[in-house]
Parts: sequence; structure tokens; C-alpha cells
Amino acid sequence: MSKITAAITGVEGYVPDYVLTNQELETMVDTNDEWITSRTGIKERRILKGEMKGTSVMAIEAVRGLLEKTNTDPKEVDMVICATVTPDMPFPATANIVSNAVGASNAFGYDLSAACSGFLYGMATGAKFIESGSHKKVVVIGADKMSSIIDYKDRATCIIFGDGAGAVLLEPNQEGLGVIDSVLKSDGSGEEFLRMRGGGSRIPASVESVKNKEHYVYQEGSTVFKFAVTNMADVAAEVMERNQLSGDDVAWLVPHQANKRIVDATARRMEIGDDKVMMNISRYGNTTAGTLPLLLWDYESQLKKNDNLVFAAFGGGFTWGATYLKWAYDPA
Ligand code: UT7
Repeated sequence: MSKITAAITGVEGYVPDYVLTNQELETMVDTNDEWITSRTGIKERRILKGEMKGTSVMAIEAVRGLLEKTNTDPKEVDMVICATVTPDMPFPATANIVSNAVGASNAFGYDLSAACSGFLYGMATGAKFIESGSHKKVVVIGADKMSSIIDYKDRATCIIFGDGAGAVLLEPNQEGLGVIDSVLKSDGSGEEFLRMRGGGSRIPASVESVKNKEHYVYQEGSTVFKFAVTNMADVAAEVMERNQLSGDDVAWLVPHQANKRIVDATARRMEIGDDKVMMNISRYGNTTAGTLPLLLWDYESQLKKNDNLVFAAFGGGFTWGATYLKWAYDPA
């Protein structure tokens, strides 16, 4: 019998309606559209508004749509992984909240914290459960409500991030399609450059922690930029070399959308033309774990069975990685 691989058999996304434009940000902090566009490529991002609305609101929409689209009975889902750094609450896991809401009552699930690389980590992990033969329908979600941890008085971070969620269904494949290989890395020494210190066990929420703005993202942008440019390109090159892929063999680069300049550098290193690089940063900004599945959702109608996709991501932690995946279906 041929080897079982984990194929993506459906993808769905959800972004909230509210559009936060560069022009609106100009009224909030000392910035301007020209700076944001030229330094990042971002024009607008989506924001989830409303009281008591957490990341699960977006993840539930994405997973409901995914199950409908793939004609999947929620009871057949046996695992749900939710990659996020903005869970609804420390526990229970957002994955469980989502499973309950969509009726995936036979699934076990957990959250995975790997910031912008979360979806890649989640997809690699979910794939192993499929490859082992133990699980047949695994939902992998990437979702973040970044607006809940952003200081809209800090121009260094508030212009970058947006809210959104995406989800894929992984199922066994015996035609050699799906996740072929992943190179995943992390380096905890990156903590000081990109982090949210408050709200955990080291600095629990207190009047003091709120006053000190410990519950917001802190990023030393230019340092993170240097690490991201080098590591994302290196890891993408590594997965290509390992699988004897040239730029011509790759149908699509699926890169994390932190900064258009980082994506361009990765594509150059891989010798891939702009027409084969998925981009949505101008419309959504950096949606952290949501970015990669949202890209697949946006480009789904252009993807063909057997297309070689290379995913690459870099994020807080530091975490980074690249995955080589063969797309498993033609457009509907
Ligand atoms: O997704 C997780 C991983 N994260 C990343 O990959 C992000 C990587 N970093 C970046 O994308 C970029 O570093 C940023 C977009 C965050 C910043 O761009 P940069 O070109 O590295 O700018 P910088 O931080 O070096 O700042 C350059 C100048 C500074 O002014 P001075 O000191 O040169 O006078 C900043 O104060 O730009 C200023 N600046 C701004 N000006 C207008 C910083 N933010 C803004 C702003 N509007 N929003």
C-alpha cells in the first residue's frame, strides 16, 4: 500500500467587516499612508469590533464554512488544532470553544502558540496524526484577534497588525499529495525583540501591569526584520534543496505577510517571480497565525491539483519554518 500523506481538501477564511485604513491610522498616531505603504506594503486591515468577541468568533465562522464547503459532518472531525496567540482566554482552549460551537463533538483539540509560524506548526503536527493512520479528518485553524493586544498609540506596531482567521481540512491521501516535508525552527533568545509580557504567570494582570502596558505587543522592528529576512529565506531554500525543487518547479510561494520587503527578499532567494507569490498584505496587514490560511482562501480558485506550494513563515518566539506541499484538488 502506498504511503499515506495529509492533503488539504478544503480551505475557508473569515475576516471581520470593519476596515481600518492607513488614513484612519493617520488620525490616531503620527504616521502617514506613504510611510506605511513604502515600508510594509499595507493599505488596510480588518478589525473585529464588539464587546465580548474573541478570536473564536472568527475561527467558528471559518470552520463552519469549511465543513459546509467540504460536505463534512462535524461529528466526523477527529481533531482540531487552533494556532493563535490571542486565544479567547488562557483556558479552556479556543480549539475546544470552536469544536463545541460547530458540533465537532468527537474531536479532541488544543491551541498552539507559535505566533506567525503557528499555522505551519499546526499543519505539520496535524499531518503527522493523519500520516500515522490514527486520525482521518483534522481541522487546522490559524486565527488571531491582534487588535486585542495592540496599543493604538504605538505607531511602531499598530500600523502592522489586523484580525482574521482561516482553516483547512487535512485528510489522508494515497496519491502522494499534501504535506511532503517541513523544516521547523525556533529560538527562544528572540523573546526580547518581539513579545507580550503581561497576562501570563510571570506578570499576571494587575493595575501595575496595565499601567506599564505589559498587555500589548512590543516589537523591536528593525531587529526582527533582519532575523526574518535571513531566516525565512534560508528555511525556504533548505526545504527546496532537500526536495530537489528549483524556482521553476514551484507553482506558488505562500509567505507569511509581515512586510512586503521580507516577502520580496524570500522570493528572490528562491528565484521565484512575483506572479507566483501569494500576497494579501495590502488588504489584511499581518494577521499572525491567520495569514497563511487566508492566503490559501484568497488564491484557492487559482490552485490546481499537483501544484507545488512552498510555505514560509517567521514570527515571535522566534519561530520560523517552511513546508513543501502538493495541492490536492482543482478549482471547483
Ligand atoms: O510577523 C512577525 C514578525 N515581524 C516582522 O517580521 C516585522 C519585521 N519588521 C518590520 O517589518 C519593520 O521593521 C517595521 C515595518 C516594523 C518598521 O520598518 P523599519 O523600516 O524597520 O523602520 P524602523 O523601525 O527602523 O524606523 C525607521 C524610522 C524611525 O524614525 P527615525 O528614528 O529614523 O527618525 C521610526 O521612528 O521610522 C519611524 N517610524 C515611523 N514613521 C512613521 C516607525 N514607525 C513609524 C510609523 N510611521 N508608523
